[in-house]
Amino acid sequence: MSERDQPPDPSEDAFLREKPPSAEPIPPWMFAIFAALLFAATVYFFSYSAGFRADVFDASKAAWDGAGATAGVAEDSHDPLALGRRLFSQNCALCHQPNGQGIPGQFPPLAGSEWVAAEGWRGDNHLVRIVLHGAQGPMTVRDHQYNSTMAPWGEVFTDAQIAAILTYVRSQWGNHALPISTDFVAKIRAESQSQSEPWTQHQLQALGREMELPPETLLKVRAGDLPSSPPTPLPNSKTN
Ligand code: HEC
Repeated sequence: MSERDQPPDPSEDAFLREKPPSAEPIPPWMFAIFAALLFAATVYFFSYSAGFRADVFDASKAAWDGAGATAGVAEDSHDPLALGRRLFSQNCALCHQPNGQGIPGQFPPLAGSEWVAAEGWRGDNHLVRIVLHGAQGPMTVRDHQYNSTMAPWGEVFTDAQIAAILTYVRSQWGNHALPISTDFVAKIRAESQSQSEPWTQHQLQALGREMELPPETLLKVRAGDLPSSPPTPLPNSKTN
């Protein structure tokens, strides 16, 4: 008797009727993977949701609450650099970039800028005025011409906040200029109350240079920063 002639196996027939292929149960290994993924997602979710606080996710809320006071300012107000870093990244980095390099042809760099360092005819007073009242028209930064407008920040920030931002900017990306104090910003603000338009480079140059601290201070700070002796070469390093 050949295989063909055999009657169909009744047990197999019953199995196929009961369980068509489309209704296969989820294999245990797949179930295990999904369970693990769900567990990991839940852990991640609860670790990083920060209680759904609005200011954690909404950068604009964290930046400024509309009254010149800054949300979360209490945490970093004791450290001007930390405050400056936060206010810079929330308000200035969009144009001047987080690395201070700006965008060629559009936004001038703050890294290596003679305005930031208050070099040549430019003084601390010019830098503070630019932030208080904004800038417009042709402006030279690092041998490049810009001709655009920066809005004023004087109504947005307190004197202490502007001092912190500028102190931060002056200490970053290779910049090594002295800090700007809250008192100096307050003094310049009082002196420039009548300024209702953003400054032009021409107007600023006509003002003359004013430095918050005498230049000898800079020499002292720089000398204090330097290591007392040049680093000793390693014994096996080649000198020529
Ligand atoms: C919307 C873009 C924008 C934002 C935001 C912005 N700036 Fe500017 N900034 C400019 C432009 C454009 C100029 C050049 C203006 C001109 O051409 O007259 C400029 C010029 C400057 C200058 C003088 C030139 C230089 O590069 O050194 C300084 C200093 C400066 N900005 C600091 C700041 C600080 C500090 C903040 C944050 C509080 C800030 N800017 C936010 C666009 C911006």
